[in-house]
Amino acid sequence: MTSNGPAGTPKELKTTRLRRMLSAPRLTRVVGASDGLSAKLAERHGFDALWASGFAISTAHGVPDASILTMTEYLAAAQVMNSTTSLPVVADCDTGFGDVANVMRMVHEYERAGIAAVCIEDKVFPKRNSFTADNKLLPVEEFAAKVRAAKYAQVDEEFLVIARIESLIAGMPMEDALERADTYRNYGADAILIHSKATSAEEVLHFAAEWNSQPDPLPLVAVPTTYYSVTTEELEAAGFSMVIYANHAMRAAWGAINQAFKRIRGSDGIASLEEELPRVTDVLDFSGINELEQLADSMSTPPPLAP
Ligand code: SPV
Ligand code: MG
Repeated sequence: MTSNGPAGTPKELKTTRLRRMLSAPRLTRVVGASDGLSAKLAERHGFDALWASGFAISTAHGVPDASILTMTEYLAAAQVMNSTTSLPVVADCDTGFGDVANVMRMVHEYERAGIAAVCIEDKVFPKRNSFTADNKLLPVEEFAAKVRAAKYAQVDEEFLVIARIESLIAGMPMEDALERADTYRNYGADAILIHSKATSAEEVLHFAAEWNSQPDPLPLVAVPTTYYSVTTEELEAAGFSMVIYANHAMRAAWGAINQAFKRIRGSDGIASLEEELPRVTDVLDFSGINELEQLADSMSTPPPLAP
């Protein structure tokens, strides 16, 4: 799948672009989105890639982040983000929607849809969001088989499979996380996401120091939702390749909609809110309606007469 750049610009596969970004020394900045609106805003603000967040997509569907939605619902959301922006999409695929057979079909479908990377996590299905109390790990060999199945199923060799380690989330020691990372590398993972629910970055920085002191470490991904004080500079210095700001668009939207509705219900009408909201014309401009009109008009211009 090529980028949606304007006609005439060089096109690079999104998988190739994401791979190139991951291997560069600069930290790749990825932001969570759930639909075309959040994806297009991410592109406007210069993020490098999109995280098709399971938490955000589930919340947008009005259900908890707990393996409730099906693969096709997740994929449909990721496809919208992929086709409305030129950014590569890293798809949060939870536990892979089942066992190795489900993972293989998942990779087939995501790859065919032009998604650049999938991320699967080593929890048991059905999973719960990592910031809930109830998180159970899958035995290491069982998850490693899913990683191998994902790599086996891909056709484009640039497509990426990110293995997400939940040891620190589940209260397991650092050794467990490091051992899992090593095993997933041996089974073909392209990158390791080390997740944490700590309020300080200490444990993920410790993991990075240990991991990056080994020969051939895979690129590392951080999701600093709870250790939000960490800076991009600190993550880059620790040898992280990618940071994902996973749920900030969804939380910002939730807060803004909640406030707006509260204000409308608490007053006689909508007048007090109007000044604070983006203008309807700004949203229409952002949606590309003017370009659409121009393009539509150009279609009815008669072609030049043959000489
Ligand atoms: C998501 O965005 O769905 C994630 C990241 O998996 S987190 O919610 O931080 O676990
Ligand atoms: Mg998720």
